[in-house]
Amino acid sequence: MASIFILILASVFMRVLSVKHPVIETDDIIANYSYNSLTNVPKNLNQNITVLDLSHNNIQKLVTSDFGNLTALKVLILSHNQITEMDTTVFESNIHLTYIDLSSNRIENISSTFPSLLHHLDISSNKLSTLSVCRGLTHLLRLEYLGLGATKILRSDLEFVSHLQLQEVFIDLDGLNEYENSSLLVLNTSRLHLSSLSNKKSVFHVLFDAVNTSKILELSNFAEWEIGKVSVDGISAIIKNSRVTHLTMKNLGIPWINIVQILQQIWSSTLESLHIHNITIQGIIFEIKFSYFNTSMREILFDHATVKFFIFDQSIVYKLFSEMNIKNLTITNSNLLFMLCPSNSSTFEYLDFSNNAVLDDIFQDCSTLKKLKTLKLAGNKLQKLSKVSRMTKNMPSLHYLDISRNLLDYTKEDCHWSPSIRLLNIKSCSLSTSVFHCLPKNLTKLNLRKNDIAHVPPEITHLPNLENLDLGYNRLSDLPDCTSFPRLMTINVANNQFPYPSPESLKNCSRLKEINMGNNPFHCYCEVKIFIKEGNKSPGKFIGWPDDYVCERPDDIKGVKLKDFYLPDMYCNVFILVPVIVVPIIVGLLLAFCLCKYFDVPWFLKMGGQWVRTKQRTKHSKNGYQELRRDFSFHAFISYSEKDASWVKHTLLPRIESMNDVRICQHERNFTPGKSIVENIINCIENSYKSIFVLSPNFVQSEWCHYELYFAHHKLYSENTDNLILILLEPIPQYLIPSRYFKLKALMQQRTYLEWPKEKSKHSLFWANLRAAISINLSESQLESSVSSSVSNSVSSSIPSENV
Ligand SMILES: *[C@@H]1O[C@H](CO)[C@@H](O)[C@H](O)[C@H]1NC(C)=O
Ligand SMILES: *[C@@H]1O[C@H](CO)[C@@H](O)[C@H](O)[C@H]1NC(C)=O
Ligand SMILES: *[C@@H]1O[C@H](CO)[C@@H](O)[C@H](O)[C@H]1NC(C)=O
Ligand SMILES: *[C@@H]1O[C@H](CO)[C@@H](O)[C@H](O)[C@H]1NC(C)=O
Ligand SMILES: *[C@@H]1O[C@H](CO)[C@@H](O)[C@H](O)[C@H]1NC(C)=O
Ligand SMILES: *[C@@H]1O[C@H](CO)[C@@H](O)[C@H](O)[C@H]1NC(C)=O
Ligand SMILES: *[C@@H]1O[C@H](CO)[C@@H](O)[C@H](O)[C@H]1NC(C)=O
Ligand SMILES: *[C@@H]1O[C@H](CO)[C@@H](O)[C@H](O)[C@H]1NC(C)=O
Ligand SMILES: *[C@@H]1O[C@H](CO)[C@@H](O)[C@H](O)[C@H]1NC(C)=O
Ligand SMILES: *[C@@H]1O[C@H](CO)[C@@H](O)[C@H](O)[C@H]1NC(C)=O
Ligand SMILES: *[C@@H]1O[C@H](CO)[C@@H](O)[C@H](O)[C@H]1NC(C)=O
Ligand SMILES: *[C@@H]1O[C@H](CO)[C@@H](O)[C@H](O)[C@H]1NC(C)=O
Repeated sequence: MASIFILILASVFMRVLSVKHPVIETDDIIANYSYNSLTNVPKNLNQNITVLDLSHNNIQKLVTSDFGNLTALKVLILSHNQITEMDTTVFESNIHLTYIDLSSNRIENISSTFPSLLHHLDISSNKLSTLSVCRGLTHLLRLEYLGLGATKILRSDLEFVSHLQLQEVFIDLDGLNEYENSSLLVLNTSRLHLSSLSNKKSVFHVLFDAVNTSKILELSNFAEWEIGKVSVDGISAIIKNSRVTHLTMKNLGIPWINIVQILQQIWSSTLESLHIHNITIQGIIFEIKFSYFNTSMREILFDHATVKFFIFDQSIVYKLFSEMNIKNLTITNSNLLFMLCPSNSSTFEYLDFSNNAVLDDIFQDCSTLKKLKTLKLAGNKLQKLSKVSRMTKNMPSLHYLDISRNLLDYTKEDCHWSPSIRLLNIKSCSLSTSVFHCLPKNLTKLNLRKNDIAHVPPEITHLPNLENLDLGYNRLSDLPDCTSFPRLMTINVANNQFPYPSPESLKNCSRLKEINMGNNPFHCYCEVKIFIKEGNKSPGKFIGWPDDYVCERPDDIKGVKLKDFYLPDMYCNVFILVPVIVVPIIVGLLLAFCLCKYFDVPWFLKMGGQWVRTKQRTKHSKNGYQELRRDFSFHAFISYSEKDASWVKHTLLPRIESMNDVRICQHERNFTPGKSIVENIINCIENSYKSIFVLSPNFVQSEWCHYELYFAHHKLYSENTDNLILILLEPIPQYLIPSRYFKLKALMQQRTYLEWPKEKSKHSLFWANLRAAISINLSESQLESSVSSSVSNSVSSSIPSENV
């Protein structure tokens, strides 16, 4: 029965809410000219517009042509202008109008005809002297909302609308100076809203009628209304006359004594629900005996309650509320510091103390809240999660606990939650991963949004009934393991830190229906491909797909939606990657290696390079050659180890000397008796244009020492490597060269030597190189002639002639 009643009530509220504001549909064409300092309705408006907002302008007059062309108009908002005059036929073309707001203007007299489809008409807060306008509203049978206001309220005027079955009547009583008894009673409305009642004379009569007009009554802006002026008898008369079940009061200041008196009176009235928004409690707060018997009261809400005088015994206020035998108590945004534990078994089922300054000693060791199902302590000053858990220990019916927006902390203390808790909201509490040590076990829904959780430790987390988990805005780098939550149906891990969502890790969540992983910094590499496939396959499962799933890395595709990110399978699948990329590379390398091995490509390249270089050098130093010293008797001096003599005598010498008329100084052959070997060698070198050394390990070990001396004496020559030809007969390992032979080491490192190839096929290139190295274009100029024609310039044979 009760639940049916609540359902009906809820639906009434919904309908009431829907007429208060214009219902704007998606296909409406809206023209919003609010706050534009307009003095006239704009001309040439699009004829098809359905919603026209002209509020907060300076329009003074409405004429028929203003809206004449707007035949599709449904909603017209003209509030907060300076309108004083309106044509009688101003709305005659707008037959589809359902909503007209003319409130807060300066209209004194309305004779216009309103379209008969109107649902909402607001002409309150104007300068009407009477409500005679109602005479013209009799045909508005669809009217649901009527806003009125006049200085004189007469029953005879209101009788013109008494046949309308209204949902809400709003009457602005500002400036009221005459109220005829029982006028309001003629109205048939589910909800009556009276505002700005300041006329002290009429207060009683207006309220006396108001409470018998509709079951839902709202009284707002009663700041100047001193209820103290109405006698206690008056209050009780009003309340006796009341059939109101839902009373809302907004923006009022009222002394403590009156508030308690009114509460006491209404406690045994028909009232079921009392909502008070923005109340300032005046006067001194002292204890007043309160009797809670026989009430139909179920719900009380205080929002934004403030106290004028701060020095008082707070427990007086707490006690008034904590002992109430109602189901719902809400005290929000009111700086509440504490609440007493009810002394008797309490009827509270729903307590909401959000946005106050409650500390975590609230309801500690309180065992009278046996029926409490919902407890909201969001936005308070709770500190210890373990203490909060102990608070719930004696609440055997607690189903939903909201402790979000508290600066909570958990450090290893024991937690004792009420086992009945099914829904827990710990959003925005700065809790770390350790929170999983302290959670009620029977949860079905857990909100841990906007905390500081880095991972979900499966070893300590076991929530067998959890169906709905919100971990958005944390620091998770991985999806949680579902073994801890076997019944999980929806999970939110949006706005965390994971780079590669892998739905694989959710494979234990067999019941999972929806997951939100949006706004994570996705790294768009191969790892993400599986997820993209999954996302495209079942987009409904991934909340926010595809818009919230965007690549963060690599930088060049930052901002690209995962849906649009494409990486060919080849790059990611090892089984494709190996045959397609790795195999050809390996084959290519092998091929290159074989070719080199077979044809000795590097050798040819090296020698070819040398040949080119020598050729270039020859070109440059052609003149240098012509500047040979006259006393050169040989083209080249040749030196070699005795052990390589056979190669020199049988292979090298015949070949060189057969080239052309090349004369070689061989220290054995051209030996001058009476001189030492070294002297002979030096002599030979000095009489030769070039020096050829046949290098081999033998040579290095036995002969090099002879030339060290020479090099030491003749720096000039030694530095001119152009005159030096090194033939590497056999490779010389670096370790064979004694470390004191710096020069040889340097020469070997420069790799300016000619290598004698073992293979016959390469010999011709070797000879060509050697010939070039001797750097004499033998076919063109004979030594003799060049020697004779050369300018005698012995000093600078190494210096190119251009510089001379
Ligand atoms: C017109 O714009 C104002 C703000 O400029 C807004 O408050 C109002 O709701 C808008 N009207 C409609 C009908 O959307
Ligand atoms: C209404 O429309 C007619 C033509 O359709 C145009 O001549 C006239 O100026 C319009 N009136 C207004 C007030 O826009
Ligand atoms: C108004 O709507 C009609 C069809 O509904 C269309 O033909 C016409 O172009 C519209 N006019 C404007 C100004 O958008
Ligand atoms: C309102 O206008 C009507 C006709 O235009 C006129 O008869 C009546 O006296 C006016 N009432 C006031 C209060 O101006
Ligand atoms: C008031 O309106 C309701 C419907 O909203 C109707 O059932 C009831 O009979 C009306 N009361 C009077 C006195 O007209
Ligand atoms: C209005 O009602 C009050 C008491 O209910 C009475 O004293 C007063 O005379 C009445 N006024 C008129 C004009 O009927
Ligand atoms: C309340 O109003 C109804 C008509 O709506 C009337 O019959 C009844 O007598 C009024 N109650 C009181 C106490 O005036
Ligand atoms: C609260 O009510 C007072 C009058 O008691 C009023 O002056 C003030 O504007 C109201 N505050 C809000 C936010 O409505
Ligand atoms: C409560 O109401 C009943 C009738 O509904 C009445 O008999 C009883 O005396 C009332 N008790 C108190 C304390 O008002
Ligand atoms: C108490 O509050 C709950 C939650 O808002 C609501 O569902 C219920 O209808 C309220 N009960 C009463 C009697 O207002
Ligand atoms: C507590 O309950 C007992 C009996 O149920 C009753 O006598 C007593 O008055 C109650 N106390 C309060 C403060 O309501
Ligand atoms: C946990 O919830 C289940 C229903 O899902 C319920 O049957 C069970 O009694 C609850 N356990 C406790 C200790 O409340």
